[in-house]
Amino acid sequence: MTIRQVTAASEKASISRSILEALRDWFEVDESREYYIRESKGWPFFAAFDGGKPIGFLCLKETGKQTVELAVMGVLKAYHRHGLGRQLFEAAAAYARNAGYQFMQVKTVREGMYPDYDATNRFYQSLGFCELEVFPELWDKDNPCQVYIMNLQKTDPGLDLLLRRRSYRGKYKPVPVPREDLKTIMDAGLAAPSGCNKQTTSLIAVDDPTVLEKLHQVIDPPAGATAPAMICVLTQRIFAYRDRCFSVQDYSAAIENMLLAAVALGYQSCWFEGHITDEDRIGRKMADLLGVPEDYDLVCFLPVGIAESEPGAPRKKSFDERAWFNGFPGRD
Ligand SMILES: Cc1cc2nc3c(=O)[nH]c(=O)nc-3n(C[C@H](O)[C@H](O)[C@H](O)COP(=O)(O)O)c2cc1C
Repeated sequence: MTIRQVTAASEKASISRSILEALRDWFEVDESREYYIRESKGWPFFAAFDGGKPIGFLCLKETGKQTVELAVMGVLKAYHRHGLGRQLFEAAAAYARNAGYQFMQVKTVREGMYPDYDATNRFYQSLGFCELEVFPELWDKDNPCQVYIMNLQKTDPGLDLLLRRRSYRGKYKPVPVPREDLKTIMDAGLAAPSGCNKQTTSLIAVDDPTVLEKLHQVIDPPAGATAPAMICVLTQRIFAYRDRCFSVQDYSAAIENMLLAAVALGYQSCWFEGHITDEDRIGRKMADLLGVPEDYDLVCFLPVGIAESEPGAPRKKSFDERAWFNGFPGRD
């Protein structure tokens, strides 16, 4: 699959028509669909192709000297959850950044109205867009308009994501996490570095409510109990060389990757390790319930789901208290 900017008006019109007509669940009003097809001819236009076939596109529209709007985007349903929306966005954001724009806005139907639009909201949030304002009657009462904003010049979306991650210990919405998303999060964990590439970390995702229930019966006090899924982190004490074993470092790197991937996909989580590795050996009880052999330790679990509230912001020491240049402070 490739992403490229399209400049010919006729090609823009034929791509936007083919995609928008296939996405009538989102673009059901003929008049607005035709508006996007017509106007897209004059907008910066990015398209995704499978072979030669267009499978998605995104257009930007200038709304001020320093501001652009993500005016319209669509990806064919068969290609959803392949990361194409993100790639299209990244191509468009790079273009907008280079063109000197400061902010990008995007509008959608406010969260909590329709499941399809809730997914759209989560997608924009996962790209790093922040809620700016809701205009309840800009479109109509059944479709309150949520405006999102992003500072294009501040940081790139990956860095922004990393700075936004927080431990979430609140309740989760009763919305299942699709297997593809769990797999993406686990892939991120498995992609982490490991000492001497020994790959000492293994993972078990649990999304079966009966199994989750059994696990939560042994997690005492309760933690992440309302999450529709969890990822259990297993480790093996494999020596890298001589008596050196990097399994703790390996699974820590895997966990951080998974926490970031979860936030990238619009979920929240928390690193629960201290909770299950104390003298009460909850981790072993969980491992036994999952049929994990004795030579693996279950050292951590990560609840995964859509948060009901915002994560708290713990106080962090200042930069100067923890990080320095060219030596420890006070050393002349
Ligand atoms: C090794 C390790 C073990 C942790 N175990 C737990 C735990 O058992 N329960 C918990 O609520 N948080 C646990 N956390 C999360 C930390 O409390 C949290 O990262 C810290 O308070 C900083 O907050 P932040 O993640 O929002 O930046 C653990 C974190 C690490 C790195």
